[in-house]
Amino acid sequence: MTPNIFVPPTSEAHAFSILAGQMRQSSIENAAHAKRVSALAVLFGRALDLSVNELKDLKIAGVLHDIGKLHIPLELLHAPRSLTLDETLLIRTHPERGYALACRFNFAPRILEVIHYHHERYDGAGYPHGLRGTEIPFYARLAAIVDVYDAIISKRIYQVQPRSFADSMFEIERCAGTQFDPALAAVFIQLMHRRTRRRFHKVH
Ligand SMILES: [Fe+2]
Ligand SMILES: [Fe+2]
Repeated sequence: MTPNIFVPPTSEAHAFSILAGQMRQSSIENAAHAKRVSALAVLFGRALDLSVNELKDLKIAGVLHDIGKLHIPLELLHAPRSLTLDETLLIRTHPERGYALACRFNFAPRILEVIHYHHERYDGAGYPHGLRGTEIPFYARLAAIVDVYDAIISKRIYQVQPRSFADSMFEIERCAGTQFDPALAAVFIQLMHRRTRRRFHKVH
């Protein structure tokens, strides 16, 4: 019998399409969140004058940041109730699981950092490693803001009502310096206000 040997695809693009496809198959909801995070992370990166290469990595990292959730039961991820401590701890393993999975492919370090550290907090109270301040890689600090923004503003299965844009800005500002890098949070808030103003002027 032939042993089941895992042969990782050689190119980043190939690996990306395999993993993104698995996410879409597993949960349309999670895949849609990932797509929005990716698009907004690129926009944020542009506002920060990042290079084309950095933007390309952010695009991939946004799509794959929650790839570790492939290993968490969906009924838990979408549970419309409060979770037990054990369930919460299981969900909190997704950055480590995602990192272990993504390390089998040829992804750029920046992409792996976002997958691994997007739930770290600036004040050191995050997970999985309790990194603090600039110990948290830059791209993970950036993705953390976009990730939370999307969670607040978008309708998710387990969230009855998405909150307003004003609420989301209040929340990002409130958590600047504790959950988020304060300098990055300030740029993000400016960017989102600019975008909203532009949309308003287009409509009116
Ligand atoms: Fe996550
Ligand atoms: Fe996420």
